Amino acid sequence: MRNHDSAFASSSEPLFTAEPAEPAEPVEAADPVEAVQPVEAAGTPEFDLAALRADTPGCEQVVHFNNAGCGLMARPVLQATLDHLQLEAAIGGYEAHAARSVEIADFHASIAELLGARPRNIAFAGSATHAYTKALSAIDFHPGDVILTTRNDFVSNQIAFLALRKRHGVRIVHAPDHPDGSGVDVAAMAALMRAHRPRLVAATHVPTNSGLVQPVAEIGRHCRELDLLYLVDACQSVGQYPVDVEEIGCDLLTATCRKFLRGPRGSGFLFVSDRVLEAGYEPLHIDMHGARWVAPGYYRPVDTAARFEEWEFPYATVLGCAAAVRYALRVGPAAVARRTPALAARLRERLREVPGVRTLDGGAAPAALVTCTIEGWQARPFKAALDERRINSALSFREFAQFDFADKEVDWCLRLSPHYYNTEDEVDTVAGAVAELARSAR
Ligand SMILES: Cc1ncc(COP(=O)(O)O)c(C=O)c1O
Repeated sequence: MRNHDSAFASSSEPLFTAEPAEPAEPVEAADPVEAVQPVEAAGTPEFDLAALRADTPGCEQVVHFNNAGCGLMARPVLQATLDHLQLEAAIGGYEAHAARSVEIADFHASIAELLGARPRNIAFAGSATHAYTKALSAIDFHPGDVILTTRNDFVSNQIAFLALRKRHGVRIVHAPDHPDGSGVDVAAMAALMRAHRPRLVAATHVPTNSGLVQPVAEIGRHCRELDLLYLVDACQSVGQYPVDVEEIGCDLLTATCRKFLRGPRGSGFLFVSDRVLEAGYEPLHIDMHGARWVAPGYYRPVDTAARFEEWEFPYATVLGCAAAVRYALRVGPAAVARRTPALAARLRERLREVPGVRTLDGGAAPAALVTCTIEGWQARPFKAALDERRINSALSFREFAQFDFADKEVDWCLRLSPHYYNTEDEVDTVAGAVAELARSAR
């Protein structure tokens, strides 16, 4: 019988094979809501889906198509988090930290491995936005400085730029989109880089409001050529695609651990390149963890990205994140990148066949954020109807995507975001539910 405590508990082998997997054994659940469906081996040659799903308690409860909101935690992630809370309660918070310092250090090591960086370049943050605003706070903006960004950037980043405009008088320039709908026009953006010499170039890899994948590495090549500071929001791409900071050519990169990495909530990170560290960038509000108070009138920032962290950490969450990143590395980012967007493509295809449903995602190969509108429905009642069917989804509104939704002439959309542990059957169930509801409005 398979060990169901964790798909990774009994073996260091990756959970995918070159050959199609054996038909899955029936799974014994400890407290079965429903036996986990054995998944058709032919459709999923790279994954032992039954084991992955048995490792994910939420799979027994819901059809979770809200991974772009928050992925379902796997058992080892949950266990690492709970174990540490218990240890803190048993021996004391500071003492628990000391006892688990090696595992805690793996937060930085595992994320560094995931991104092709070194642990010294990684800082923990309470969220992707926390990481992003810390990074922005390190830039000494002056009136007239330009922030060059795109029309499909994350809402909170855009609000932060507007706040910088209000306080420091920076100018915000949006590069135009390519007419073919593939995202930002990189040639036009490069021309703007040369014309404005921006203080900061900022791009979101995959925005929250659609499956568009922006060409962040192409943008990065221009930034490197022109020696411009480049900040990438990889919140929706980390865990869904391999993300390599060298390949992207970014100076700073932010993400959360809770979405496609399937970590606990209240976590994120910031990658800070050696270039940026050596140039002396430091966050505006630096504390005793990020700096040493070496004389009454003088502090010295630490050499590493820890300069962007604070002294206090939620260590149970940090340990859960490290477990989640190790899990993602074991499942295999390249294999995930083949399966997850493919599940989304199947869903998009099904939805396109439904009268009254309009899918909205641009680009030749969109990510696993499937967005659509449904004629005759308002946003919240539609989501509530899916909730009743135990299908998790999310909504996006015009205020999340002022440019994109104006271009698409929509005020809201439904967002469905599968992940590798979802099944083709679930995709069809979700498409069926949307179709049934769309019919009922007509
Ligand atoms: C593209 C993108 N960037 C940033 C964020 C913000 O992440 P957090 O809520 O961890 O601050 C999100 C959240 O949905 C996102 O989709």
